[in-house]
Amino acid sequence: MFMFRDSAKALFLSLSVSLLLFAACSAPEPEALPRSPAFGANGMVVTANPEATAVGLQILQEGGNAFDAAIAVKYMLSVTYPIAGNIGGGGFMVYRTAEGEAGALDFRETAPAAATRDMYLDEEGNLIDGLSRIGHLSAGVPGTVAGMEEVWQRFGSLPFAQLIEPAIQVAEQGHRVTAFNAEQSNRFQEEFAEVNTQLPLFVKEGGWQEGDLLVQPDLAETLRRIRDEGAAGFYTGTTADLIVAEMQAGGGIITHEDLAAYRAVWRPAVSVAYKNYRIHSMPPSSSGGIAIAQLMLGSADFDFAALGHLTPESIHLMTELMRRVYADRATHLGDSDFYDVPFEMLLDPQYIRARNADISMEAATPSSAIKEGEVERIESFETTHFSIVDGAGNAVSLTTTVNSFFGSKVMVAGAGFFLNNEMDDFAAAPGVPNQFGLVGGEANAIEPGKRMLSSMSPTIVERNGALYLVLGTPGGSTIITNVYQVLMNVLEHGLGLQQAVDAPKMHAQWLPDVITLEEGALDEAGMEALRALGHELRVIPQIGRVQAIQLLDDGRLKGVADHTRTGDSVARGF
Ligand code: DON
Repeated sequence: MFMFRDSAKALFLSLSVSLLLFAACSAPEPEALPRSPAFGANGMVVTANPEATAVGLQILQEGGNAFDAAIAVKYMLSVTYPIAGNIGGGGFMVYRTAEGEAGALDFRETAPAAATRDMYLDEEGNLIDGLSRIGHLSAGVPGTVAGMEEVWQRFGSLPFAQLIEPAIQVAEQGHRVTAFNAEQSNRFQEEFAEVNTQLPLFVKEGGWQEGDLLVQPDLAETLRRIRDEGAAGFYTGTTADLIVAEMQAGGGIITHEDLAAYRAVWRPAVSVAYKNYRIHSMPPSSSGGIAIAQLMLGSADFDFAALGHLTPESIHLMTELMRRVYADRATHLGDSDFYDVPFEMLLDPQYIRARNADISMEAATPSSAIKEGEVERIESFETTHFSIVDGAGNAVSLTTTVNSFFGSKVMVAGAGFFLNNEMDDFAAAPGVPNQFGLVGGEANAIEPGKRMLSSMSPTIVERNGALYLVLGTPGGSTIITNVYQVLMNVLEHGLGLQQAVDAPKMHAQWLPDVITLEEGALDEAGMEALRALGHELRVIPQIGRVQAIQLLDDGRLKGVADHTRTGDSVARGF
């Protein structure tokens, strides 16, 4: 039976007192404590949402390990952070056990069996606007529930019911909507009404206000089925029936067979040495690990510390590295179960050195215009990352998404969760940019059962062989460059972790040939210096929202949530 792996677990049938206490307090008052940084010797949880951080900490305090806490956090996010934390999506986990074993779990969505290479193109081969981004056809087969079951079966130490029950209670009894969540729900009221076959409860007359109580009975029922039957409670039976009925009502293509066939996949992490550090990150179907490894290996050949933090020179050099890495991404990276990704070549320091050999500090190298396309403004998308370390030293770095804010905007009628719009992460046609301006070709073409290429980059760093950093962020294509900059800020520029996370970021991705700067990254003189090198610049209000943990020299854990950018991120330790 799914629920209990061994007899010790079987003994645990009733829920703990603290769990019930948690449920009773499931509509908390606004946080009194500062959101970040937090310190603790016995465990640390950093997530994008107060209830999620609270349940992660609770599970650690009840004796659960970092993996138990991750499962509880993930299910709580699906209730209290529906923007991104939903069970209708997927994600990636990179872990490092207390014994030092590192690995990765891929629970990315897959293309349904009826998906075809040209499904988002009209008869002339042009992209049909919005089809891969909104509505039923934009959804991939969700991976989260299968992913969490894998985590629990391999690493869980507490009964599964104990981990999911807090989320069930909060879904049933309701939680107070934060200002951020209210604002985001209000932005999409029209889309919710337009694409849904039944009006979801997220559509609210007069809009949502901070402090409103959000009660989600259908979601509570879905979570109960998962509690009682495990992943089968999602991929088969009533939940699967509801998903398939939703698809049939709205013109989608996910079938019972697609759901029943879904599997999460354990993979070796991409691990590279950088000076006295070792960096573990996510392999395909995410591009994140290879891209970050290439950026770090490339950076090792330059003296970034001497160039300084956020100077025109360091931004120019990072841009040059990034555009080469993203050009590789567009051509060579896709789901390695379907496409022969040249891992060895891409991670060979000689290859990277040769590729970066023509970088000049005097002038920008123009990106090839061959695949250039019109890029939409980056807005209204959301992913979420959390980092957890337990007292024994197990570390979990997990990034998860439904892609855009509320994914496809389609809520499965009767099941209470939004479906992703992850199909937009495929290359709809060679060279046609997706919502993040990313282009791709054969490696990331749509095929039945294939995973769309991601940029999610849950990452763990060792220093001198010991756990040092756990980090990740949302931000679409900027995820890779954001994680890279936090690493450089700490490892090269000597910034404290909070400062490293809060510092303004930059981003470049080959195409479009432009440097994106976060407000405050450079003053006018600095921007002029970059323009003089031949760079085009644009400035946007914010890039990403890193949640990170650092193991300090005195053995304590420091938890850092980004608290300068909008959102509800919070770090808590004990
Ligand atoms: O997998 C990816 O790379 C994208 N679907 C992630 C989307 C994202 O980060 C949106 N959030 N800010």
